[in-house]
Amino acid sequence: MEQMGGKHILLGVTGGIAAYKSAELVRRLREAGAEVRVVLTRAGAEFVTPLTFQALSGQTVFGGSPEQAAPESAMEHIELARWADAILVAPATAHTLARLSHGLADDLLTTICLASDAPLAVAPAMNRRMWNNKITQSNIDRLRTCGVHLFGPAEGEQACGEWGAGRMLEPEVLIQRLAGLFKTPLLAGLRIVVTAGPTLEDIDPVRYLGNRSSGKMGYAVASAAVGAGAEVVLVSGVTSLARPDGVAFVKVRSAGEMHNEVMRRVTNCDIFIAAAAVADYRPAARIDRKIKKNDAPLALELVPNPDILAEVARLANGPFCVGFAAETERLAEHAEAKRVAKGVDMIAANQVGRPGIGFESDENALEVFWSGGRATLPRSSKTEVAHRLIELIGQRYNSAS
Ligand code: PMT
Repeated sequence: MEQMGGKHILLGVTGGIAAYKSAELVRRLREAGAEVRVVLTRAGAEFVTPLTFQALSGQTVFGGSPEQAAPESAMEHIELARWADAILVAPATAHTLARLSHGLADDLLTTICLASDAPLAVAPAMNRRMWNNKITQSNIDRLRTCGVHLFGPAEGEQACGEWGAGRMLEPEVLIQRLAGLFKTPLLAGLRIVVTAGPTLEDIDPVRYLGNRSSGKMGYAVASAAVGAGAEVVLVSGVTSLARPDGVAFVKVRSAGEMHNEVMRRVTNCDIFIAAAAVADYRPAARIDRKIKKNDAPLALELVPNPDILAEVARLANGPFCVGFAAETERLAEHAEAKRVAKGVDMIAANQVGRPGIGFESDENALEVFWSGGRATLPRSSKTEVAHRLIELIGQRYNSAS
């Protein structure tokens, strides 16, 4: 694995049963040409002794004892933080993930993680219930938002006898993922426009037609694209979300405004991702005084809005276009029909109208279609789903260009 040759890998080992695999990881990293230094937490040293890691890495092992655990013991945390080309915490327990996600620096390993500019990756290992716990998941989301790389976990039989997600990835997979950190990011240098959130179509000064989109999916996609090295413009409808770091942000209200802002920017971009829930219709006229109530029925005339995605897809030399399809039934059939009708390169279909996924929720699941292929992105947090979607878009974009 050429990317690993001569790389300085700082391996943090915390207190989980998967720590035994970290010994094998050290051996394989050295075979791949990396130099490895191991930092143990006190709990980590209960599972595998410092002597084992010292023998395998050929280096002094840090941490692991009360005397060595305190960062004040020397300036070694700064030296180690500077030395590392990448830091991998494997296994990363739920407790360590919680400490890292809150910026705690209460032992040598967490202090190094805070003090280093090197990419930080974590390989979670824990019981599936601990992994699925909302607190752990929100810690994971927070870490990802801060740019921490998440390697795994895998699904399978667990040391406690249960079956599910929470197993640490195998050493060879971890090394592949580490090598990926030293490659050029998938979307480096590409310009991407993402739409997100609802559009609101005003009826009068106090009323509008809207929809249930919270913007969470589109914002997660924009953040994942930034993480993959792209220059991102996020054109967002009205949401209550904080604007993601690293994007150029354009706020709009109606489909008409979104249409204008997108069309101004897409001729100059490589990829367009339409995650917004754009209103298909708007009131034919906006009344400038509040409509007064009376007992007669009220009819509202609606006219179609421009179809932003279809229009972008029709541009000569336009960007690679990715649409979303929100469907309540016959997901694959309707999504494929939309992909063809709108002439887009890929479409990501999600089931809506069910609790827990789709509109407003923190989780989603996608079926992604392109000409001659499809992929399933299983139910997970919108952050995780967005990362997987961006990986897929990067692969399809690169194979199309
Ligand atoms: O925002 P969240 O609460 O996180 O929810 C996420 C989501 C469910 C809104 C998102 O995952 C999603 O499915 N977005 C697309 C919703 C939608 O409008 O689907 P559609 O099937 O009606 O439209 C198909 C595609 O055409 C979409 O990419 C849409 O952005 C685009 N479109 C639609 C109408 C229109 N006038 N212009 C468009 O560009």
